[in-house]
Amino acid sequence: MLFSNIKAKWKRRALVSFLTFLLAIPTFAQSSEVPSSNLETMLIVVLSFVLIVAILILIIGLYLVSIIRMILLEDKKQKALAAGEEFDPSKEKSLWSKMMNKATDAVPVEEEESVMLDHDYDGIHELDNHLPPWWKWLFYVTIIWSIIYLLAYHVFDALPLMEEEYTIVMEDARIAHEARMALAGNNIDENNVEFSDSPEVMANGKAIYDRECVACHAPEGQGLIGPNFTDNYWVHGGSINDIFRTVKYGVPQKGMISWQSKLTPSDMRDVSCYIMSFVGTTPQNPPPPKAAEGEEYIPEDQNQTSEEPAEQPAEI
Ligand code: HEC
Repeated sequence: MLFSNIKAKWKRRALVSFLTFLLAIPTFAQSSEVPSSNLETMLIVVLSFVLIVAILILIIGLYLVSIIRMILLEDKKQKALAAGEEFDPSKEKSLWSKMMNKATDAVPVEEEESVMLDHDYDGIHELDNHLPPWWKWLFYVTIIWSIIYLLAYHVFDALPLMEEEYTIVMEDARIAHEARMALAGNNIDENNVEFSDSPEVMANGKAIYDRECVACHAPEGQGLIGPNFTDNYWVHGGSINDIFRTVKYGVPQKGMISWQSKLTPSDMRDVSCYIMSFVGTTPQNPPPPKAAEGEEYIPEDQNQTSEEPAEQPAEI
């Protein structure tokens, strides 16, 4: 009686702590700061619920199995009693031990003689046991898996191979990086903008220029409706800050629109830097460059692009 009381208490305690654990899973998922998107958080929550349900189903399944076993034992007992035989429930093998027997196919120590070979190495004998079935099953599973793998990866191309997977991951990282950079670029303004001729800036600047500005400023910056960018004369100033300001706010009354609602700050920085790379170049294709307009820009510090390339020392 006392024993069964303790057992019941234990069961209750285990149940309570288990339920607390289950309830805590979604809290973990929510409190972790790691998920970068809502989708990820949702995925974690859904997965934890699936896990909870799976565990509950497993528990219920085990419980049902134990009930079935009890019913079967009871049935056997009734039959044995009816036939007037002795019935000892402790001699009945449990489902688990039956399963283990099937999985290992081990010969009990008492029956070892039946598989003993006549090999005798200084008194050490050899047993002729079967390969354990669990091991063979594992082997068959690997064969089945290899077929699935072959079909999925090489025949139907349903899943990405290592190299492709690498490219996908790198592409994801690039997109995430770009998003971060765009966010970082959002606090660039005409006061803190800095010139850069890094390949990324130039490539992005060129892409924007070719898309948005080419119609009025010509492909090589020679000027069309808008002024020429290849000379060092500027109507609104030739420093990176001036150019950024012109691009951002535009000169609406003269036909140069404001770009701040169409381009992000970092895009405006990139295209401004790209424009500065036209200074000093000679356009090769029509239309012919427009005449210089505005005032010559003389940089205050020599780090600007308009800096003349250093003269090569004459060869002797
Ligand atoms: C619809 C035609 C048009 C488009 C498109 C256009 N511009 Fe202009 N842009 C002009 C005109 C016209 C001026 C001259 C304004 C003035 O004289 O004050 C100008 C002037 C400028 C200037 C000042 C030049 C100076 O001498 O100070 C810059 C810089 C400039 N544009 C950059 C850009 C950039 C960058 C783009 C693309 C994102 C762009 N423009 C797109 C028409 C255009």
